[in-house]
Amino acid sequence: MVAVDNLSNSSKESLNRVQKITGKTLTFVQCDLLDRALLGQIFADYQPDAVVHFAGLKAVGESMVNPLDYYKNNVCGTATLLEVMVENSIKNIVFSSSCTVYGAPKNLPISENSPLGAVNPYGQTKLTIEQMLKDLQVSDTSWNISILRYFNPVGAHQSGEIGENPSGTPTNLMPYMTQVAVGERKELSVFGGDYPTKDGTCVRDYIHVVDVAKGHLKALEKLSENPGVIIHNLGTGQGHSVLEIIHSFEASTGQKVPYKIVDRRPGDAASVYANPQLAELDLKWKPSSGLRRMCEDSWRWQLKNPKGYS
Ligand code: WQD
Repeated sequence: MVAVDNLSNSSKESLNRVQKITGKTLTFVQCDLLDRALLGQIFADYQPDAVVHFAGLKAVGESMVNPLDYYKNNVCGTATLLEVMVENSIKNIVFSSSCTVYGAPKNLPISENSPLGAVNPYGQTKLTIEQMLKDLQVSDTSWNISILRYFNPVGAHQSGEIGENPSGTPTNLMPYMTQVAVGERKELSVFGGDYPTKDGTCVRDYIHVVDVAKGHLKALEKLSENPGVIIHNLGTGQGHSVLEIIHSFEASTGQKVPYKIVDRRPGDAASVYANPQLAELDLKWKPSSGLRRMCEDSWRWQLKNPKGYS
């Protein structure tokens, strides 16, 4: 297996730890998807059977401020990757998409055939890439493409060796909360307490990151059946509010999380959660970790690595 990353928002240390956990070696090459010459050399050297494409900027708020970075990195980077794959006749790909392609859903739970409509540049880049992939497969039906729409991945490997390590100030709820709990930050701001939900705070479908990883392995297996383009939600089907997450984290870890309810964050939808049945049926994949496990594993990672990998 070859890992390719530009390390713009990740650390090589995580790969050292993956090798420690698995006892397997992996090859790493630092490369930006926009560096077509080096990317071409990597594919020529290693000739992979398939690509699992995670590379992308993914902060909703940041994409509102720097949309061009998102289109250049996410869309142009993927176009370069696909060109290099075509050059090397490699036509199997699993793509990391997102529930943000559904925008602010009118009906819940969200199924794969729910209306699409991004409400921020990040989601629009994912939607554009999905369309690129669909058009590519129409032009050449020998492509096999799995599009996985993640809901809210959280948690960490149970060893506490690898976990979420955002650079700078975390934009996502779980890493910000664990940094407050470990004393790296003073208190959590809860963005909005007046939404039309059970307790006024936003509802999301939080899914353990290891369950998400297992979904990718199932998707890779599925590609060997030459399915063409397949699209699946990776969620649990359970929605939890921000306050529920805070209370569950405190109950699971015994750690208090000081917080205050502040104004809403622009672009947030009130409630988003998945209908995960299609992935369960097609991929024979079912998430197994509940909220308590997500909180415990996130906390173990943060406690062992108060300053992440640095
Ligand atoms: C969750 C809830 C915030 C931070 C994420 C990813 C996106 C996509 C979908 C994969 C919201 C609230 C947050 C904080 C808070 N996943 N919140 N205080 O916005 O659902 O998007 O999942 O592609 O890439 O970013 O996740 O964790 O930012 O927010 O109150 O300090 O927590 O308002 O209601 P979001 P999030």
